[in-house]
Amino acid sequence: MIKVNDVSYTYMRGTPFEKTALKNISFDAARGEVLAVAGHTGSGKSTLIQIVAGLIDLQSGSVTIDDLPVADKKIRRLVGIVFQYPEHQLFEETVERDIAFAPKNFGLSDAEISARVDEAMRQVGLDAGLKNSSPFELSGGQRRRVAIAGILALKPKYLILDEPTAGLDPLAKENLLHELFGAIKRSGVTIILVSHNMEDIARFANRVVVLAQGEIVFNGTPRELFAREEILARAGLEPPPITQLLRRLGINQIALTLDEAEKLIISRR
Ligand SMILES: Nc1ncnc2c1ncn2[C@@H]1O[C@H](COP(=O)(O)OP(=O)(O)OP(=O)(O)O)[C@@H](O)[C@H]1O
Ligand SMILES: [Mg+2]
Repeated sequence: MIKVNDVSYTYMRGTPFEKTALKNISFDAARGEVLAVAGHTGSGKSTLIQIVAGLIDLQSGSVTIDDLPVADKKIRRLVGIVFQYPEHQLFEETVERDIAFAPKNFGLSDAEISARVDEAMRQVGLDAGLKNSSPFELSGGQRRRVAIAGILALKPKYLILDEPTAGLDPLAKENLLHELFGAIKRSGVTIILVSHNMEDIARFANRVVVLAQGEIVFNGTPRELFAREEILARAGLEPPPITQLLRRLGINQIALTLDEAEKLIISRR
């Protein structure tokens, strides 16, 4: 379980440029949960997840992961974080070596590393035949998968994904999310998904925390959120297109999937 309690954070504190990025943030993420963190650009999402992963030191408040304080080095093995545009960090000569890079630093045996590389490639939907390819010969979507596989190979209990589909074409995006969430959810990993895509949140998250100007303005289910127009407006977010369509048709109910929307529309005819 991740527990974030009363965390505030100011960049360049004590200078004329100081900027408060987070104010009194508290929330939990339970085992096996997919928790979305949503918010407009600059609302503090990336700052928050870097604090949760122990990459930015706390200034006030506390974060614990499985009851360990986040400053404890042991949490490095529990939490995997995939940054925005992670493929920019690929540098090895082959896909296999890139995915194996971090597990090697954990001092695992060659057999264990090789098994983890195979499993991680399956989880992100990469063909095993690509192992010996150079990451630089791959498409953007495939490179993204290689980068994510490198984190999955660490077998984190908590996986933090910062806009994992940013910049991918619609098909690559759809496939990646399906494969990733299908595979990971089955393994019981807790996921924190940073996204401003309400459709993705509707389909994959069971809870969503909304940030606006560094503060939490909502913590609940996607279904509850989409019914709260004033909160979405305050956070500068749009409800998903199917919710907007239902509203235009005068149906004041929330649908998270196309199938649900179809049933609501048909039942009204
Ligand atoms: N290294 C930094 N130094 C100073 N200010 C920063 C720094 N990083 C972020 N900020 C400021 O802190 C606030 C929150 O930024 P953050 O990157 O956490 O937002 P975000 O929600 O991730 O935005 P985006 O959706 O654009 O990724 C912004 O006002 C930003 O300008
Ligand atoms: Mg960000």
